[in-house]
Amino acid sequence: MKTLIVYASRFGYISDCTKMLKEKINDQVDIIDILKQKPTNLNEYDNILIGGSIKMGAIQKQITSFCVKNMEVLLDKKIGLFIACAQIKSKDRYIKEAIPPRLVKHASDIQCFGGEYRNEQLNFFEKKMINLLEKFAEQNNSDRPGPIFENITTFATVFNKKIDKKN
Ligand SMILES: Cc1cc2nc3c(=O)[nH]c(=O)nc-3n(C[C@H](O)[C@H](O)[C@H](O)COP(=O)(O)O)c2cc1C
Repeated sequence: MKTLIVYASRFGYISDCTKMLKEKINDQVDIIDILKQKPTNLNEYDNILIGGSIKMGAIQKQITSFCVKNMEVLLDKKIGLFIACAQIKSKDRYIKEAIPPRLVKHASDIQCFGGEYRNEQLNFFEKKMINLLEKFAEQNNSDRPGPIFENITTFATVFNKKIDKKN
């Protein structure tokens, strides 16, 4: 059994989550940052976990393309989906817009790991955007981003059970 994690991260939060996730999966795990490396030879893997982060309502386009391009192969494997976002209440909508419905239906688990604003990494426009998001959250009494590390544990637990069942 072998598991592949394919992820995309803009400011490093989901990248850190991916490393934590790897430690919790009871399997040999390889990680690919899809923004730097092309995932090849998916047939080597029994399980594939796919995740990205939301900016201006959208996941990285490389994640969507990966899912669309490899749809048939992915439908043959155990898969799990995860995202980072600030507005946790919108997670289902973000997933729906990012991932083809057949794959969403096929996924063993879908989790939101929360999110984090890493101000030191943001450019001028991104900082402005964050100010708007913060204002919106304040006015609407809605979510402010924060890590939800327990969802990484839950995700890994659900996935480990699926892997055990397959054995
Ligand atoms: C410029 C910017 C725009 C963002 N836009 C959204 C958004 O539209 N919806 C949302 O829920 N979260 C949004 N976020 C929150 C990110 O999803 C969150 O900061 C996440 O942790 C980023 O993960 P990453 O560092 O792996 O890219 C935004 C963050 C930034 C910095």
